[in-house]
Amino acid sequence: MKIHKTLIASLALSAGMTLSAQTNEMVIQTKKPGAEIQPTMYGLFFEDINYGADGGLYAELVKNRSFEFPQNLMGWKTFGKVTLQNDGPFERNPHYVRLTEPGHAHKRTGLENEGFFGIGIKSGEEYRFSVWARLPQGGTSSKIRVELVKPNSMGEQHAFASQDLVIDSKDWKKYQVILKGGITEPKSILRIFLSSTTTVDLEHVSLFPVDTWKGRENGLRKDLAQDLADIKPGVFRFPGGCIVEGTDLDTRYDWKKTVGPVENRPLNENRWHYTFPHRFYPDYYQSYGMGFYEFFLLSEEIGAEPLPVLSCGLACQFQNNDAEAHVAVCDLDSYVQDALDLIEFANGDVNTTWGKVRADMGHPAPFNLKFIGIGNEQWGPEYPEHLAPFITAIRKAYPEMKIIGSSGPGSEGKDFDYLWPEMKRLKVDLVDEHFYRPESWFLSQGARYDNYDRKGPKVFAGEYACHGKGKKWNHFHAALLEAAFMTGMERNADIVHMATYAPLFAHVEGWQWRPDMIWFDNMSSVRTASYLVQQLFALNKGSNVLSLTMDKKNVTGAEGQNGLFASAVWEQRDNTIIVKVVNTSDKAQPVTLNFAGLKKQDVLSDGVCIKLRSLNIDADNTLENPTAIQPQESPVSIEGNILNAELEPYTFALYKFKKK
Ligand code: AHR
Repeated sequence: MKIHKTLIASLALSAGMTLSAQTNEMVIQTKKPGAEIQPTMYGLFFEDINYGADGGLYAELVKNRSFEFPQNLMGWKTFGKVTLQNDGPFERNPHYVRLTEPGHAHKRTGLENEGFFGIGIKSGEEYRFSVWARLPQGGTSSKIRVELVKPNSMGEQHAFASQDLVIDSKDWKKYQVILKGGITEPKSILRIFLSSTTTVDLEHVSLFPVDTWKGRENGLRKDLAQDLADIKPGVFRFPGGCIVEGTDLDTRYDWKKTVGPVENRPLNENRWHYTFPHRFYPDYYQSYGMGFYEFFLLSEEIGAEPLPVLSCGLACQFQNNDAEAHVAVCDLDSYVQDALDLIEFANGDVNTTWGKVRADMGHPAPFNLKFIGIGNEQWGPEYPEHLAPFITAIRKAYPEMKIIGSSGPGSEGKDFDYLWPEMKRLKVDLVDEHFYRPESWFLSQGARYDNYDRKGPKVFAGEYACHGKGKKWNHFHAALLEAAFMTGMERNADIVHMATYAPLFAHVEGWQWRPDMIWFDNMSSVRTASYLVQQLFALNKGSNVLSLTMDKKNVTGAEGQNGLFASAVWEQRDNTIIVKVVNTSDKAQPVTLNFAGLKKQDVLSDGVCIKLRSLNIDADNTLENPTAIQPQESPVSIEGNILNAELEPYTFALYKFKKK
């Protein structure tokens, strides 16, 4: 090894180059663990965009189950004598349907639901159909038939699962039955029809897979929740995003409407249904079936700190600057109270008003909420003015709570430059930065956080993704540049405490925004290269930063650094050193990792190198080819404290050694 290094050195010097320029020698200070890396460092941001909740993670398969869409029968087809009624048992969802005998034995009365881009049914799996029903005109019983139907290309239909359900009371009651089909069909239809002569009323018609995440009723799609759990996220930000703000204040995300019995959670519009006219989805609403209780529960189950974001009393400033879209600061009391009540809902004793609501929903233990965000992408003086009363009230009631403010929608510029000092003045704990930027931006931002003020609030990179110039969709190159940028966040873990890519989910038939981290259809999901980057960072985040330099400078893709970005960490738990190097250039790069400070008895062993690369940098994993890009792991051995490696063009490499 010594001979090799000497030879390279003399060749380099004779070519008039420095040794490090030739070999890209990176020196890692192994003996001086630096800043602590927060457990929250890499996390997830969830918003109901791209059918992320209804039609996605929330496993309900029936669309418009409570007949409350503005067009009450949207998503449904009726036949025979079906009438809409509006004096149902659930105050906030009063509509339901009445099925009356059609007048002849061969005729039928009933309805069909189209689901979300069809209903995905898997062969051999069980599905729980449930409905609230009654006999409005009395009688001892009536019967409905429930079927799963496969439409075929010839327009013929075939029921492949069917069950009868006896309705036996004139009072509203919940009924359920399990359906099991022998075929797999992503575009099934749910059909319900009266199969006796007595009139029935039906409300809150629901169909869920029995096998949900953790087996919960009103549960989540197992594969999608597993995708989240497998990142081992440190923080989970929800429920948005722009939907927190609403296009007007009435349609903001109101957490109190999302808890309690699911049948009585009111419908809200989803602004993503109309935000982009070229991606218009008129049937996209929020059922709130996946509400704040479910978000807290999921955070707990995936081991992430929950981070709810609430409206600050400003509707979406992109979409609506009318006077009534802003609550006057003097009228903010109920909004501030909502924030205090949310903290009580999450953490309060079961004897408190909101702690009791949580306990009644099945979770008497507190959720241990530590963070709360107020406002999403707000800007202008109205934002700090609105934020201030929240801060005063929360600090007074819950001094330990960490409050997250926003630096607006831009990664820099006028609003950003105004809001950061304002956030410092208001003494928020973290500032949420958002950047959806092109390749050139990501390549230029390796040193972004190196000179941030260490005395003010910490950074939460709450929404980011590389949006390729002219290539605003998922591809490996974007993921690679995200990895490059993330080395800069990692190196600055003393100030960057959280980072979450966005958006998280997208239905292939119903997206509004891309790129996204996880794509899915009604049957399965695919983890993109961006997902794999996030996962590699999150699973290898370490407990402390280690200094890593090349020619005594941070490796940030700066001039003369050959398109390389790098960071290093130490994981105290298992005494592991982890180095992440990203070669963003189109040329192979030799890299020398020099683990400085190791003593004779310090042995680096069990070395592995995990590489993420793609021969086609414009490609990504897809539902058709979900494993096109996968991390490749191989053993590496080290001689003394030097590792010489070669990094292929466009490669993210992660080296890991046990220190003995
Ligand atoms: O992630 C999509 C959107 O981007 C979020 O709703 C919003 O915060 C940002 O503008």
